[in-house]
Amino acid sequence: MTEQLPLDPAKLPQHVAIIMDGNGRWAKRRGMPRTFGHKAGVEALREIIKMSDELGIRALTVYAFSTENWKRSAEEVGALMGLLLEYFTKELEELNRKNVCIRILGDIDGMPRGTERQQAALHKAIERTQTNTGLILNIALNYGGQQEIVRAAKVLAKRAADGSLDPESITQETFAAELYTHDEPEVDLIIRTSGELRLSNFLLWQCAYAEFYITDTLWPDFDRNAYREALEAFSNRNRRFGGA
Ligand code: FPP
Repeated sequence: MTEQLPLDPAKLPQHVAIIMDGNGRWAKRRGMPRTFGHKAGVEALREIIKMSDELGIRALTVYAFSTENWKRSAEEVGALMGLLLEYFTKELEELNRKNVCIRILGDIDGMPRGTERQQAALHKAIERTQTNTGLILNIALNYGGQQEIVRAAKVLAKRAADGSLDPESITQETFAAELYTHDEPEVDLIIRTSGELRLSNFLLWQCAYAEFYITDTLWPDFDRNAYREALEAFSNRNRRFGGA
């Protein structure tokens, strides 16, 4: 095996976002139900969180469940909710020990009836880890990028209506301050697995200048080497942020 050079910390992204796609196809190729793929997806996620933490990446955002995912079969939604509960119950103490700060991007309290235990576990994870200063782990759940922007617009509109905010004073910064990711760096690198070329309503504002990395690898197969390749590709990009 060839020796791997260490990744240059100065060239690492501060904020990585991942669309973890391809669990269903991964399972189908094995003649297994889709839920088997999601289970394997959680294992892959665990390693990527660990590696992000080891590398000192500031924030990692993963798309776990969109506002549209409720349209999937009751069986699949139930399985995903089960995995979520299991994850937050089993992993919380270890993440807390690692100084990880867990945040949920999305509408926890707007999750449908029957998910009360998940909602309680999510609130507990946020509360338990909110003062941690290590990796910020954002789990996008019941999340939509357009909904997030509308939510921020409503907050500002209400302030303008009650006279506490001059609409002329609204800037990109004051708007961004109302997003779930208010105090975090903008996304530098967005990774999408399984080859799809879509943003799927994910972090629309935060990805304004993000570098895209699309791989055909299905999410459960996205391991440390695959992540390393993505980070290496990012470190070789020439980012111009609209400049020449
Ligand atoms: C996309 O694959 C994946 C999802 C919609 C769910 C992602 C969730 C996890 C990896 C596990 C749950 C997360 C936590 C935090 C416990 P797909 O089902 O759309 O796959 P396909 O495109 O091959 O059908």
